[in-house]
Amino acid sequence: MIVGVIGSGGREHAICELLKRSKKVNKIYCFPGNAGTFKIADNVNIDTNNFEIFKDYILKNKIELVVVGPEKPLVDGLVDYLQKFKIKVFGPNKLASQLEGSKIFTKKICEKYNIPSAKFGVFHNIDDANNFLKKSSHPIVIKADNLASGKGVYICDSVEESSKAVKEVFEGKFGKTNKVLIEEFLKGEEMSFFIISDGISIQNFGTAQDHKRVLEGDKGKNTGGMGAYSPSRLIGEQLEKKILNKIINPTLRALKDLGTEYRGFLYAGLMIIDNEPYLIEYNVRMGDPECQTILPKLNTDLFEIFLACCNQNLKEIKINWNNKKSLCVVLCSKGYPEKYEKNVEIKNLNKIELNSQDFMFHAGTIEKGGKFFSVGGRVLNFISLSDEFLKARENINKYLRKLNWTGGFYRKDIGYKVINK
Ligand code: AMP
Ligand code: GLY
Repeated sequence: MIVGVIGSGGREHAICELLKRSKKVNKIYCFPGNAGTFKIADNVNIDTNNFEIFKDYILKNKIELVVVGPEKPLVDGLVDYLQKFKIKVFGPNKLASQLEGSKIFTKKICEKYNIPSAKFGVFHNIDDANNFLKKSSHPIVIKADNLASGKGVYICDSVEESSKAVKEVFEGKFGKTNKVLIEEFLKGEEMSFFIISDGISIQNFGTAQDHKRVLEGDKGKNTGGMGAYSPSRLIGEQLEKKILNKIINPTLRALKDLGTEYRGFLYAGLMIIDNEPYLIEYNVRMGDPECQTILPKLNTDLFEIFLACCNQNLKEIKINWNNKKSLCVVLCSKGYPEKYEKNVEIKNLNKIELNSQDFMFHAGTIEKGGKFFSVGGRVLNFISLSDEFLKARENINKYLRKLNWTGGFYRKDIGYKVINK
């Protein structure tokens, strides 16, 4: 079959790589892809925000299944649009995507269905928000309602900081808005929990912990993710049951009550406090770099899984996993997450020869005349599967030392909570 994948990150390279392994897939298109997908797919640079142009391309090139990597096209309603033309597409529809598209939508579901999450308030003007903040203990969390690529969240230690954050939100830093979300600060350990659903049944799709901060020791600015490991050190049978019963299942019920269903990957960002899960946020897609970390452990044909979700027979598929530990380190452009240079050559990339349990997925890269150049903040992902997280990290470090890319940097302490050295 012919498959199309939307996205240009490490997540999408990992998805393309697994699709390529399927005997049922004979061609992959990636929109727009990167230098990694370039080797295994046709990279196509058309405007996927223009649904009509995208749909015409799909029909013309006889693409039979579309996989949506990032959240924006989902929140914008691409799935609903393509389905009108009978195009099979893996990902949630516009209403279900509100779980990520609107934090207030999700908080209201939590309230109505008793899903454990931080206490919250929604404020419609600066004065009400500030009056509340003056009476509140800090730290406190201020959030913009809409999609903000992970940037619309402030953890504030003082009233000065929190009122500044509220001002920025109302001034439209994350898009025009007339509301702000203020949340209780939850103190615990974060983990990511993934499921896949066809709208009728669900299956677990692994757990991970990622490192969002740019500096070692989880300090400094927030990023898209500097590395991750899977499984999470927190997960066990009991906690898994609680997450499904208290968080995932009531959320799916809420969507049913709204007259819709959830198809695709669902990523629950959780805070675990004394072995109890609290929902921090939903993402309606796989995480990046969690996807690159988890997919190499998959022993079942990913294409069959996507197809089963589109055909609503996921129940018939047994998803098998390799039980090794997986660790991923992200190599970034110097300066990320702030200003960084683009088009810096990555000279030694061809020298990297990977062992069979190790993987390299591209993110912000392009190829020009057989040479590789960085074009994004997060550039390459190195993943290793091993019996021990420490061994996995050592394997990765060997590649990173060999690559010796002077344009980049990476965190050397990924997985420190599960590695005692
Ligand atoms: P979000 O985009 O909602 O996932 O928030 C980004 C990050 O902010 C999360 O990964 C958490 O580290 C932190 N965060 C968000 N909400 C809270 C909260 N209520 N309490 C503590 N930390 C939070
Ligand atoms: N790694 C965090 C995310 O994908 O949102």
